[in-house]
Amino acid sequence: MYFDTHAHYDDKAFDPDRDELLARLHKEGLSLVIDPGCEPESSRAAIGLAGRHEFVYAAVGYHPEELDQYSEEGFEEIKTLARHEKCLAIGEIGLDYYWDAAHKEEQKALFHRQIALALELCKPVIIHDREAHGDCMEIISGYPELRGVFHCYSGSAEMAKELLKRGWYLGFDGPVTYKNARKTLEVLALCPLDRILIETDSPYLSPVPMRGKRNDSGNLRYICEKIAEIKGESPERIAQATAENGRCLFFS
Ligand code: NI
Repeated sequence: MYFDTHAHYDDKAFDPDRDELLARLHKEGLSLVIDPGCEPESSRAAIGLAGRHEFVYAAVGYHPEELDQYSEEGFEEIKTLARHEKCLAIGEIGLDYYWDAAHKEEQKALFHRQIALALELCKPVIIHDREAHGDCMEIISGYPELRGVFHCYSGSAEMAKELLKRGWYLGFDGPVTYKNARKTLEVLALCPLDRILIETDSPYLSPVPMRGKRNDSGNLRYICEKIAEIKGESPERIAQATAENGRCLFFS
């Protein structure tokens, strides 16, 4: 019933109980998960996890925060992992000027290389855009055939309209439940239900009332409840629609 399109189950926060937790969540209604890699090691781990759980899939790539981990050898490994049958996307990739504003050009160059890989393999991308909205828009504008999701969407309503017009999906996470979510809720209100994806970004970004604790896909229901409130739909309908959207983007 639920499709968590962004959860880092390879993270060490899940070392004590990863496989049991996933088995339990699956039994409780989590029908699909994508674990995005952040560099070669976590990308390899995500593929490994996908090999152990039928309902878990992976994405592979270099997160912009991991720029200093980059090597030619590492990128070759990402290219190999990207061809694995359980790799659905290239991600998470993008720009993060909050974390590192000193290496914008290097971040952009790596973003371009990874977009090229996605296009070569006909896979969608999972984009991390933190305080880099203008440059992310400029870069993706150069690739009209590129498909994907803006993970944990944090841009303006205007930018959202532009992305939706171009066929992109928007990902919504725990922060929709936070007190300062006004801007994101405006975006949710204008985003058609068939372009919304729900993500936890586990183990991070736990929604209210679990804020501060380790996050997991069981908390998707709080995100669904918030979206349901905005959209005037039932939480069940939101879960079902977003799962269909995830299938549309990542499995077709
Ligand atoms: Ni993430």
